[in-house]
Amino acid sequence: MAVFRTLEDMGDVRGKRVLVRSELNTPIEHGAVSDTYRIEKAVPTLKWLSGRGARVIVMAHLGRNPSDSLKPVYAVLSTLIPHAQFVADVVGEEAQSAVMGLEDGEVLLLENLRSHPGEKENNPEFAKILASYADYYVDDAFGNAHRADASMVSVPALIPSFAGLCMEQELTELKKGLTPESPSLFILGGAKFETKEALLEAILPRYDTVYIGGALANDFLKAQGFEVGQSLISENAEKAGALLVSGKLLFPKDVLVKNKNGTETKHVEEVGVEDTIVDIGPESITELCERIQGAKCVLWNGPMGLFEEGYVESTKQIVEHIANADGYSIVGGGDTVAAIRELKLEDKMGFLSTGGGAMLDYLVDGKLPGVEALESAPTRS
Ligand code: 3PG
Repeated sequence: MAVFRTLEDMGDVRGKRVLVRSELNTPIEHGAVSDTYRIEKAVPTLKWLSGRGARVIVMAHLGRNPSDSLKPVYAVLSTLIPHAQFVADVVGEEAQSAVMGLEDGEVLLLENLRSHPGEKENNPEFAKILASYADYYVDDAFGNAHRADASMVSVPALIPSFAGLCMEQELTELKKGLTPESPSLFILGGAKFETKEALLEAILPRYDTVYIGGALANDFLKAQGFEVGQSLISENAEKAGALLVSGKLLFPKDVLVKNKNGTETKHVEEVGVEDTIVDIGPESITELCERIQGAKCVLWNGPMGLFEEGYVESTKQIVEHIANADGYSIVGGGDTVAAIRELKLEDKMGFLSTGGGAMLDYLVDGKLPGVEALESAPTRS
């Protein structure tokens, strides 16, 4: 198996310019960061380098709109790294002169990489300019490692490259989820069957039980002939039926629905055409919590209810059960991790991943473009 080098392999970094690809893609509400988890997880690598006298250049993306600025992220970062600087440019003269002006131990955040089309296009010229900024490259952006963007896959081919502390920890912990100790339980929520089909095919042989919640459960309920009313359904929901033969999938037995009367709990066979399923019901929560108690490894990604509309009850109860259970737990996905942090139960969890899509893609076969680029990166300049 290919290996990558870590910060400890860098040697003396004093006076060296180090280009760090961080994962700072965080939710922004009313112009401010509403969940700082990814920023907090990016800081140890930056402090490790700056504390050893490196000149640290941080590059990251935010959102999907090229005009999104990393300024709100910088506002948080500068409270965690007090003298951090920001330049509202990526590869222009302003950025280049800010990079050249860095002193030993200083940290500079560049503007949103996606403000330049070269990032998503994986443009080699764009990558060359970024690589020219530094002696070394550090990839700490596990959460974006499923994206073959210029900063993830082309820059590491140009200068000596290393994994950052967050990246290293993610890969060490998530590896445990590839070969879980039995009895194992995978809890998968959220929506869009089309983005989770490959994952389900890959994990079903490896896990003892897979509990499906969230909007994803609607696809499976429909495939079994249940009415799901107005509930969210995936584009290719009909394909969900093919996975039922595994006999390892569990679904909610009762659900919370909203309709013209407000919200009510119904057994899945009672859901009507006017109903919208918004969460799993109390009987299902109890069943799932019993499974959690009995598992040696619990892996969880995606809320059970319509989180964005405030249906958080089941997710909260599951968090509390996992926190009090003996098995090892790995949890990922922005909303799920946010719920755990809100309940201040993060210390009681095995591992909270910074990855959403990256975590799910990694669990398919243990491979991600960003990680493969790091493994095949040159060892010398
Ligand atoms: C994520 O949040 O999953 C990564 O930062 C990638 O973002 P994207 O889904 O917009 O490519």
